[in-house]
Amino acid sequence: MDLLLPKGTEILLRDLIQERTGMLYDDDKESVLLDKLAPLVIDRGFHSFLDYYYLLKYDESSNAEWTSVINAISVQETFFWRELDQIRALVDVLIPEWVKNHRLEPLRIWCSACATGEEPLSVAMAIAEAGWFDRIPIKIRATDLSSSALTKARQGLYKERSFRNLPIELRHKFFAKEGNAWRVDPALHARVRWDTANLIDRADVARFAAVPFILCRNVFIYFSKETIRRVVRQLAEFIQPPGYLLVGVSESLLKISTDFELTDVGNAFVYRRAKIQAQTVEKTRFSFGAKGQE
Ligand SMILES: C[S@@+](CC[C@H](N)C(=O)[O-])C[C@H]1O[C@@H](n2cnc3c(N)ncnc32)[C@H](O)[C@@H]1O
Repeated sequence: MDLLLPKGTEILLRDLIQERTGMLYDDDKESVLLDKLAPLVIDRGFHSFLDYYYLLKYDESSNAEWTSVINAISVQETFFWRELDQIRALVDVLIPEWVKNHRLEPLRIWCSACATGEEPLSVAMAIAEAGWFDRIPIKIRATDLSSSALTKARQGLYKERSFRNLPIELRHKFFAKEGNAWRVDPALHARVRWDTANLIDRADVARFAAVPFILCRNVFIYFSKETIRRVVRQLAEFIQPPGYLLVGVSESLLKISTDFELTDVGNAFVYRRAKIQAQTVEKTRFSFGAKGQE
């Protein structure tokens, strides 16, 4: 069926979707966005993208429709042992350092765009291999915006594609064959708690980000610079000392934010919460003073 696309509708949809999810399908990718939305528009019985826009924008019962939109447009590509150097840096350097200074506290880690779960389960495998689960309480929270990704993550059943980087001995240690897939060891799976969270929603970030280690990898590639700056600012606001943020290897924050500083740990680059400048504190004090005098 040919759907109507009144002039400017693709921009309206693009902007609305960016506002709600952070994901930006800019100039050259608008046709990709329309291709992904077209089946949803048809399913709803509409003949025009504009009607679908009105539904998303103004219909108060459109929450379920948004779930479908997010599932249709999010890219959930991920695999075990992806960008391993950072996970090694976390487990071999940052966790031991943290444990030295926080003996009585549970260690908390947030994987904030976990897709179908391979990333938090890789963190859990690396921690298990290093023996940390036997020594300290560790809580791993994994969240994503997409409900379909989280459903798969909760199932814990993975196909061959997910294993392209994982050494075979670890596959045999932590997974059991089930039909044409592999089921993750329930004990390892239970190390991770799964939830929905939107990185551009301040309340969601506040709920999960008060931890010393946050992974936010391979999601900023879908956001605009302005959205990244906003998300990073919120992460910086809530993250706990020492405040390490791990982003994907192709995602540099250097020209976007000064809230975190790039640092070299082991063989990996990670970001660390920047110290609040004395000058900034002075400025804040001054503006409070000024306000008090109004
Ligand atoms: C390419 S996957 C990255 C998975 C994993 N972090 C990795 O590096 O392998 C990107 C994920 O970001 C999620 N995502 C997109 N926008 C999001 C948002 N606003 N909040 C939370 N997750 C989001 C998508 O649903 C998708 O699962």
